[in-house]
Amino acid sequence: MRILAIDQGTTSTRAILFSQTGDARHIGSRSHRNEYPRHGWVEQDANELAVNIMSLIEAAGPVDAIGLANQGESCLAWDSVTKEPLSPIIVWQDTRTVQILERMAAEGLEKTVRRRAALPLDPYFSAAKLGWIVANLPKAAAALKAGRLRLGTTDAFFLDRLADCFATDRATASRTSLMNMETGEWDEELCRLFGVPLECLPPIRSNIAGFGSIAGARVGASIVDQQAALYGHGCRIAGDAKVTFGTGAFALTVTGTSLKRDALESGLLPTVAWDLGDETTYAIDGGVQDAGSAIEWALRAGMARSLLDFEILEPTTAVERGLVFIPAFSGLGCPTWDRSASPLIIGLQPSMDRRDICQALLEGVAFLTSQVLAAIGNHCALQEHIPIDGGIAANSYFVQFLANCSGRSFRVGSFAEQTAAGVASLAALALGEEIDPPRLQQFLVGPSLDGAVWSGIFNDAICRARGWRPAPL
Ligand code: G3P
Repeated sequence: MRILAIDQGTTSTRAILFSQTGDARHIGSRSHRNEYPRHGWVEQDANELAVNIMSLIEAAGPVDAIGLANQGESCLAWDSVTKEPLSPIIVWQDTRTVQILERMAAEGLEKTVRRRAALPLDPYFSAAKLGWIVANLPKAAAALKAGRLRLGTTDAFFLDRLADCFATDRATASRTSLMNMETGEWDEELCRLFGVPLECLPPIRSNIAGFGSIAGARVGASIVDQQAALYGHGCRIAGDAKVTFGTGAFALTVTGTSLKRDALESGLLPTVAWDLGDETTYAIDGGVQDAGSAIEWALRAGMARSLLDFEILEPTTAVERGLVFIPAFSGLGCPTWDRSASPLIIGLQPSMDRRDICQALLEGVAFLTSQVLAAIGNHCALQEHIPIDGGIAANSYFVQFLANCSGRSFRVGSFAEQTAAGVASLAALALGEEIDPPRLQQFLVGPSLDGAVWSGIFNDAICRARGWRPAPL
């Protein structure tokens, strides 16, 4: 059996082919443009991404099933007849809707949204982005009038366009802030509040319901990338957690078959982990908005010449030398949800150079991640060794610093594509089959010194990052 996993992420689309016995073959990777047309705006071209997905499917040759992992809350509008995009993809990091949400909060609507969607009012989620598209893009308004408007997360667009199946899955829908978390269906009141016509949204299915076919292969499973990675890491029972370091860093923990609403009070997000048809499993999620994207900033800004600059670092930590970097390029996510916080570097000395900044950047991502894990740890007992994957998980300085400042132990594997492994397993399940997990070597990294002493310094810097509001020129 050959299962093709397509991991359509924020910065690239990757394809991995899995066999039933756990062999994983990398088919290819295609990067795409992220555009930043205005401060806080992040956009992608849906056609570019669809072409990338198709070229990877063609490169893989005949397969028995496809699993599609999507980048979460990113969303768009398209035409139901031509299947052409009517908007750019508005990426999950995009904060153009901050003021709309502030107005909604001032009108006292946050309570309703929290009760129905089990999510805070934040630009991260799709609802306000979709409402913005309907209210601001004439093409979308015209399509609505003509009864041809479709709205949804990126998975729904790719499935409609490439597999002729207008649908989304329950885990992805749980990230939109338009799904009622009790019923698992679109919520009329939320759609009204955010200005999203419910009839334009795709039907919600289980994660393994089948989503049409592409190039003769059935799309067995479709799911958000973070939930896919949770499944790929073998997390199945309450307390099983993982952290994936991609564009952002996302910690998810399985909480079982009931929704953990109280986690919302600690800034964590109750979410659907997966719906396998007969049972829905829930998780709580905590995200650091900028991880890989902070590294990319350092490369773009010339702070780092290559990723090597993040490997060769001073033996003493930057925080011990008084240098702290809070990489809040998209503001702060869990647990504070202060999206207008500014990135901040504090404690520069004349003897320091860009390498010190790279080191402090890694430490800042690690500290924000350890804050998320602390919040999750207050809600459930986490397993002894937390599996981590993704780009920065391969950096030994970073992982050791993370272990020290969180006081936790992490499991790093030689196979980094856990999102792909998870969605491939789910696609196999849709065929009534199981595939063996990819074979991997693993090593454990535990605390080597007590990094909790650094908390005061980081927390002080976070307060400053939250307090800094640049005045308009
Ligand atoms: O919520 C956004 C997240 O799912 C994106 O993941 O891997 O594309 O950074 P990634």
